[in-house]
Amino acid sequence: MADTTAKRVFSGIQPSGTFTLGNYVGAVRHWAPLQQQYDCLYSVVDLHAITVRQEPALLRRATYEAAALLLATGINPDKSIIFIQSHVPQHAELAWVLACNTMFGELSRMTQFKDKSKKHVENINGGLFTYPVLMAADILLYNADYVPVGADQKQHVELSRDVAQRFNNAYSDTFVVPAPLISEQGAKVLSLQDPTAKMSKSDSNENAYVSMTDAPEVIMRKFKRAVTDSEGTVRRAEDKPGVSNLMTIYGIMTGKDDAAIEKEFAGLGYGAFKEAVGQSVVDVFSPINAEYTRILNDKPALERILKQGAERAQAMAGRTLGKVYKKVGFVQIK
Ligand code: TRP
Repeated sequence: MADTTAKRVFSGIQPSGTFTLGNYVGAVRHWAPLQQQYDCLYSVVDLHAITVRQEPALLRRATYEAAALLLATGINPDKSIIFIQSHVPQHAELAWVLACNTMFGELSRMTQFKDKSKKHVENINGGLFTYPVLMAADILLYNADYVPVGADQKQHVELSRDVAQRFNNAYSDTFVVPAPLISEQGAKVLSLQDPTAKMSKSDSNENAYVSMTDAPEVIMRKFKRAVTDSEGTVRRAEDKPGVSNLMTIYGIMTGKDDAAIEKEFAGLGYGAFKEAVGQSVVDVFSPINAEYTRILNDKPALERILKQGAERAQAMAGRTLGKVYKKVGFVQIK
């Protein structure tokens, strides 16, 4: 193949409720811009979602919402492939073959598995354990070169690399070995209530996280209540995690650097600062939300997009899976 073909990008996001500001900053905001440079596939990973217990009706709704929100951020279905993971059966099929090439010890070392099994002691199921294998299948099916993810997913992408290499060594060159794309700037947005912990939508305190679909007044209120410190000066410092986190958010939303932010709020105190941070988030999310509502209100159009995405993804995934089945020695009958 000519090496003038664009490199390929794959990423996935779980349809578990609405995306947080953390999901946006760490991952999703990069997805639309990547379309200019790469061939992109973006998937709403519903198979991954059921590793924790889901209410079926809520999962179904959250899946539509996730797809609509991705489209609203500017993912263009004529350029990129956007699809629902369960619509492409090859993900589960390749995951099995890869599971047979992934070690128990490797999966036991995954920090997300360790965290989630602490959080869901009553439901430490096999899917939770093999979650990274399914993720490897997602990526390897499309021979993705790059995988844009939040910092918390780096370990899983590294496992995908190891599994790809192991398979290639055992069965001859088959998979592209993928690399993570992690944005350095603000790779991690912290809780507004406990700025030593990651912002998470499973936080029991709703003020700890901002959702992309929160109403403007809700966003403003959450920022007004954000935990800071008693110094009263807007500057980045290790012992000022709350203010530093707000500076990160403000910097990303406005494109301003730390020096400019410190200057802007010199002598102004935290009240004005928090208000400005909240407003900067509202300014970014409001147009996305308007578009999101429009897309979600036209289900037939949304379903057409997802159907087309699934068909295009299936064609690619089918080719890879066919090769894999042949290489491992499964009988092929034409
Ligand atoms: N595990 C990822 C997360 O929770 C979601 C995901 C599933 C993913 N499959 C993927 C991300 C493939 C990148 C590539 O954020």
